[in-house]
Amino acid sequence: MRLCGWMDGWTDAPHNLERYTTWPMFARDIGPDSASALSTQNLYGVHPFYMCIEAEGQAHGVFILNSNAQEVETGPGPHLVYRTIGGRLDMAFFPGPTPEEVINQYLQHIGFPFLPAYWALGYQLCRWGYGSLDAMKTVISRNQALGIPLDVPYADIDYMNHYEDFTEGGNWTGFPAYTKQLHDQGLHLIVIFDPAVEVDYSSFQRALNADASFIEWARDDQVPHDIQDQYPMAKNTKIMLGNVWPDRNTAFPDFLDPRNNTDDWWAGEFAQFHNTLPFDGMWIDMNEPSNFDTGTYSSLEQRLANAKLSCPISGADSSLDVPPYPTQAVFQRDGEYLFSKTLCMLGKTAHRTRNFYDTKSLYGWSEARATYKAIPQVTGKRSAVISRSTFPSSGRYGGHWLGDNTARWEDLQTSVIGVMEFNMFGLPYVGSDICGFNGPSNEELCLRWHQFGAFSPFSRDHNSEGLPDQDPAVWPSVANAAKIALTFRYYYLPLLYSLHYNAARYGHTVIRPLFFEFPGDNEALEISEQFLWGSALMIAPALYPGQTTVHAYFPYATWYSLQPETYGQQMFSGFNDVKAPLSSLTPVFVRGGFILPRQAANTTTTASRLNPFEVLITIKKDAVSSGELYYDAGDDIVPNDNIEQHPRVHWQFSFSTSLVGGVFSGNCETCSTAVKPPTLDTIEILGYQSTPNFTQFKLDGSTVNLDMSKTFYDASLQRVVISSKNLISLLALKKKFTLSFSNNYY
Ligand code: GLC
Repeated sequence: MRLCGWMDGWTDAPHNLERYTTWPMFARDIGPDSASALSTQNLYGVHPFYMCIEAEGQAHGVFILNSNAQEVETGPGPHLVYRTIGGRLDMAFFPGPTPEEVINQYLQHIGFPFLPAYWALGYQLCRWGYGSLDAMKTVISRNQALGIPLDVPYADIDYMNHYEDFTEGGNWTGFPAYTKQLHDQGLHLIVIFDPAVEVDYSSFQRALNADASFIEWARDDQVPHDIQDQYPMAKNTKIMLGNVWPDRNTAFPDFLDPRNNTDDWWAGEFAQFHNTLPFDGMWIDMNEPSNFDTGTYSSLEQRLANAKLSCPISGADSSLDVPPYPTQAVFQRDGEYLFSKTLCMLGKTAHRTRNFYDTKSLYGWSEARATYKAIPQVTGKRSAVISRSTFPSSGRYGGHWLGDNTARWEDLQTSVIGVMEFNMFGLPYVGSDICGFNGPSNEELCLRWHQFGAFSPFSRDHNSEGLPDQDPAVWPSVANAAKIALTFRYYYLPLLYSLHYNAARYGHTVIRPLFFEFPGDNEALEISEQFLWGSALMIAPALYPGQTTVHAYFPYATWYSLQPETYGQQMFSGFNDVKAPLSSLTPVFVRGGFILPRQAANTTTTASRLNPFEVLITIKKDAVSSGELYYDAGDDIVPNDNIEQHPRVHWQFSFSTSLVGGVFSGNCETCSTAVKPPTLDTIEILGYQSTPNFTQFKLDGSTVNLDMSKTFYDASLQRVVISSKNLISLLALKKKFTLSFSNNYY
């Protein structure tokens, strides 16, 4: 039996059920520890969901909706024991029987993922520690100069004035003008926002004026007035003060306030700041929520010296902070409490109706919801919110990066698992910090990470403060490999976007482990270093130092190579050693029986979207190939998340072949005249066994003139490419087309 899921940060794939293992779940600001043999520490998010695969590939899923500190023990039998220290239990069972159906049923229960703006599928470049706007500009332009596809520059907390949200710091004069310049080039900007706001500046004052809520102490006599009374704005409140990045104490907005005051104030702050700095997406961090140095300072001197938050560990008020069984989240760390790195459990949330003890793990979820809700009045366009802490249904509001990993090979390896795992959790827009966040990266690691990261739905290079640069332009070899991998990504973005549409509309995964498509294949069950985009595209990245080949597994199916060196060749089923050059494309393969939409790559998605469409048809013996293309305006809001009503074109394609010839047809399932897709100009077929008669192609009965400079048949590879400018219109008016052809000698 195989078990997937539980918590955020699964490094044990599949879970070893021969051994007793306890997995604590309680949102915490802590980076993944991929280097130890087995790390069970609780990470940023909480996902009390697992999927089990039994013999013959039958899968089922179980979800336990609970937001308290909780844990699950897995072990021999197999068995599992679930423990929680509060709240309620809502259990849901998903019968599958395939893994994809389990996830689909789970997502029907918790909600389908949001549809990211098209630009958010582009490559993103970030770092903490740009000392100034000029430093950021230098990095962005040197990568652009090398022709590396790039859509989203980022600014981390450096851009703020003393780390105060909704402000700009002194070294960032000209940031709005630079943003405009980025927009003119078709790029988009994402900036960071932390939830904790300093309690002595205008944003906080506006929150008070709006009667927004913050996490509070339960009673006034619990408030440490020695600290509180230093702040005129906070003085007569019970707001629980902590310390995050800003110089002075901070308060934590209560996004669970059912009156919407907090959400409305939050949206208003974004909107006001957006008038100054027209950012396009929001990166929300530290939302476990994280608080620095929460302690048990007992003496007044200590407290005053640190102005740190101190929680009661004895007496009547300590029952929530020091419960009888604080779970493994506490036991696995000496000298810690439930409140370590966060706020006191006795705090009040949901406008004084709940204890923080019960809602802490919902904080990131509630902030993502408030942030997502703000978008229509902030940018007025479809966007992307990236959140660190997540909970079931967070995917409705945003995506996720896998947090503060380290520039180590082990972290690259576990990134593959993390990306697959969050697809099972309903957050398909996910990726790890490319090249690694903590610790200095190196050329080979950064290169391999780009070769993998180009295939993560959320694809962002990110680095910590004070570390050497690691953007692709730092090393010519990395720039070259990143450009190749990202150009491939951009070529196939219409496929990736169509997969995200399927996630948003029907609740499917975007990234899939092999066993999702081949559940009866015992070998596929063990593969955690390869993955699929949807059903058809398989990626087998190199993840080890000094590696020159990947020992890749090809489940029983028809597979074609898309690597330039072996392009179009069929791969044997079973294990194959495939070349993984540093100077070429990541090993990537396509499965027979599918039709993949694509569009020649440019260096931004904005420009790529204007190129004509192509399809790649892959033949599986004696079967019809099928596929689809979803296309819309790319950045228009989906009102009320009602994607069914959203203007789009959604084409279903099929291709059938016989000894006589082939028929490629399209059917526009939902076509809106408001959406104007480019034409479909090029069709490539892999595995085609005869020579088509290029003078006899008929589109809806009329002969087509093919561009013979681009049209050919390669008999040795059984590869057909046909092309013609404006070959097939994909506009709504058409609704259907049929392109048929015969082979020579027929
Ligand atoms: C946290 C985030 C990281 C960010 C840093 C500074 O560590 O996880 O991504 O760069 O804070 O904002």
